[in-house]
Amino acid sequence: MGLSVVILAAGQGKRMASDRPKVLHGLAGRPLLGHVLDTVYRLAAARVVVVHGHGGGQVQAAFADAPVEWVEQSVQSGTGDAVAHALPLIPAADTVLVLYGDVPLVEVDTLRKLAALATDGALAVLTTHPADPSGYGRIVRGADGALQRIVEQRDASAAELAIPEVNSGILAAPAARLAGWTAGLERCNAQGELYLTDCVALAIADGVPVRTLTAADPAEVEGVNDRIQLARLERLYQGRQAQALMRSGASLADPARLDVRGRVDAGRDVFIDVNVVLEGQVRLGDGVTIGPGCVIRDSVVEAGAVILAHCHVDGARVGPGAHVGPFARLRPGAELGPDARVGNFVEVKAARLGRGSKVNHLSYIGDAEIGERTNVGAGTITCNYDGAHKHPTRIGPDAFIGSNTALVAPVSVGEGATIGAGSVITKDVPPDTLATTRAARRLVPGWKRPRKD
Ligand code: UD1
Ligand code: CA
Repeated sequence: MGLSVVILAAGQGKRMASDRPKVLHGLAGRPLLGHVLDTVYRLAAARVVVVHGHGGGQVQAAFADAPVEWVEQSVQSGTGDAVAHALPLIPAADTVLVLYGDVPLVEVDTLRKLAALATDGALAVLTTHPADPSGYGRIVRGADGALQRIVEQRDASAAELAIPEVNSGILAAPAARLAGWTAGLERCNAQGELYLTDCVALAIADGVPVRTLTAADPAEVEGVNDRIQLARLERLYQGRQAQALMRSGASLADPARLDVRGRVDAGRDVFIDVNVVLEGQVRLGDGVTIGPGCVIRDSVVEAGAVILAHCHVDGARVGPGAHVGPFARLRPGAELGPDARVGNFVEVKAARLGRGSKVNHLSYIGDAEIGERTNVGAGTITCNYDGAHKHPTRIGPDAFIGSNTALVAPVSVGEGATIGAGSVITKDVPPDTLATTRAARRLVPGWKRPRKD
């Protein structure tokens, strides 16, 4: 007897006013369904069945590698019908946990508790008390407090509409029982659909115990029906990320102005200024400072490094004590050594900068290897691309590259070498050598410019 999970994701989501299936809309940069799946994987269920429908194969294609089974519900005739489509894939002895693909913030502990309530053959329903219950199915309890039935908004009487407790839609039940109940559902409701919620009354009629679990935080079970709810859940999610970061020792100038779209590991005494976006896998070492307006994606920033305002850092490693920005762009494969400096309007791609080396102004360093303590002057360009291929530039330690130098790759500059400003370097420069390619100065005393008559 195992646990199986059914995720309902066939609905069109009309109120999204979108050509994309609802569960593919993003929360924190990931589709809603991805959030649900991440939570479900933590349950280690024996099988996960996703019911898809609207949007054809789009949902399946977006999760082509997910370890789930797919069932198509081609006509969306209700939540009960959707579950009935999944049940043939599930062993009769399993406990089934039904989730919604558009309820992204549900927590694994809540799901574990709900599933545990159903393992002895009971039907367990997750309920909550939202600030505004409108739109939800209401939980109707008898005088003894026991759940009697769930009534949808459109089918509810005025008295029922006043009930503050609502159905989250999430439930757990024995598979064999659920198969029987969903087979017996009728379309006797305002929408003419087969309602999963009607299983409650059928369970009671069968003498099966019906239990409820209440989610203390309604946000956890809040569904996305329109883009306004989606935006609210995004803020809720971001609020949680910000709190987790602060608990782990990061100070945020404004928790409401940080967006985390992925996973962030932050050390102690990290400071993050306003309007920062962290994407993918980001690691921030102890004492790191991130200036305002930075976007950092899939990067590691080591202890004590400082990223000044408005930097874009993607697939990079910033060494301990290094300084970057303001207005710098580190692209994939950029690796800055300890205490290195990359200043304003500098782009670095697939290049390593040794300890203490500096590229402080207006430069492009691509496909390059730069040793320690080397100074790269303003406006230096590694000409790494000949129109067909990329070529490497190597610069040794303690070198000095004068301003406005073009290094035409493949080329190397030896240890301790100096390049005069404005040079175009096409051939290797030996160590401890000055190279200049400037044209000699020519003076023509008294020379007159052409004039109009
Ligand atoms: C449902 C519940 C309601 C609950 C609410 C919580 C029923 C009848 N009502 O209402 O009690 O308060 O959720 O959010 O269950 N879906 C399918 N196939 C279908 C119909 C729906 O896969 O044929 C999926 C949708 O994609 C969605 C979920 O089931 O993920 C819920 O469907 P939705 O239409 O949003 O149900 P509600 O009217 O919100
Ligand atoms: Ca809904």
